Amino acid sequence: MLNSAVMTEHIDIKRINSDLRYRFEYISKFLNFTSDDIAMLNTFAPLAFPLIPDLADTVYRKLFSYDITKQQFILAAEGFEGFLPRKQCGLTLESAPVVLRKDMFSIYLRRVLTEHEWNDTFLQYLSQIGKLHTDQAGSASLNIDFIHINALLGYLENLLIAKLCNIDTMDEKTKCGILMAINKFFWIQNDLFSLHFLRALNDNGASQNSTEKDKTTTTCCWA
Ligand code: HEM
Repeated sequence: MLNSAVMTEHIDIKRINSDLRYRFEYISKFLNFTSDDIAMLNTFAPLAFPLIPDLADTVYRKLFSYDITKQQFILAAEGFEGFLPRKQCGLTLESAPVVLRKDMFSIYLRRVLTEHEWNDTFLQYLSQIGKLHTDQAGSASLNIDFIHINALLGYLENLLIAKLCNIDTMDEKTKCGILMAINKFFWIQNDLFSLHFLRALNDNGASQNSTEKDKTTTTCCWA
């Protein structure tokens, strides 16, 4: 007979929002992301490494194929040394600021695949990548709408899975293990992005509420 009793673990919402390690442990337990998944990402690393420059190029090609995403790089290039504003309308995938960002993106991918420990420094890194895309990261920060982040996370996950599927020197079990680990990683990374976007939304909402106390109607667009 099936046992219908379920162990219910207490999760502290305040800690989720204030303690990155606690948050990660909750989400990884929920997704069943374990050291086996980390090992799977590490197994994929040497096979994926030669493909990463091409992958970074494809990602940036995608971001440059819409004005709404490309304009973020034009804005970010403004502060780039030696890159004068008048040149910015001609920003290409080969321009120095973009090449630099592609390199940073490749470093990010390599780190995700090779990290063994997933210690606090690494969690901070994953979270910091999320934060730098919001307006909460200091003077040189960006302010990218979450729709583009979500889209790119999905696009990147598919690119990685397509590369994995093309490998014919691997048994099915390992391939499935890597695929599931990649999938779980992206949901974790998505959480560590969205955390900052929701925080920014709450902060902005709070300041708006305090200045618009008298308003009786909301401007919510979801209804
Ligand atoms: C899958 C989601 C994304 C990941 C993993 C990602 C990752 C990164 C990384 C690793 C960097 C370099 C950080 C550093 O300097 O250390 C970066 C910078 C940047 N990203 Fe993203 N990104 C994502 C989505 C996007 C999207 C959708 C846009 C634009 C619509 C964007 C625009 C930028 C810009 C403009 C910078 C340069 C920031 C600066 O130097 O001031 N990113 N991103």
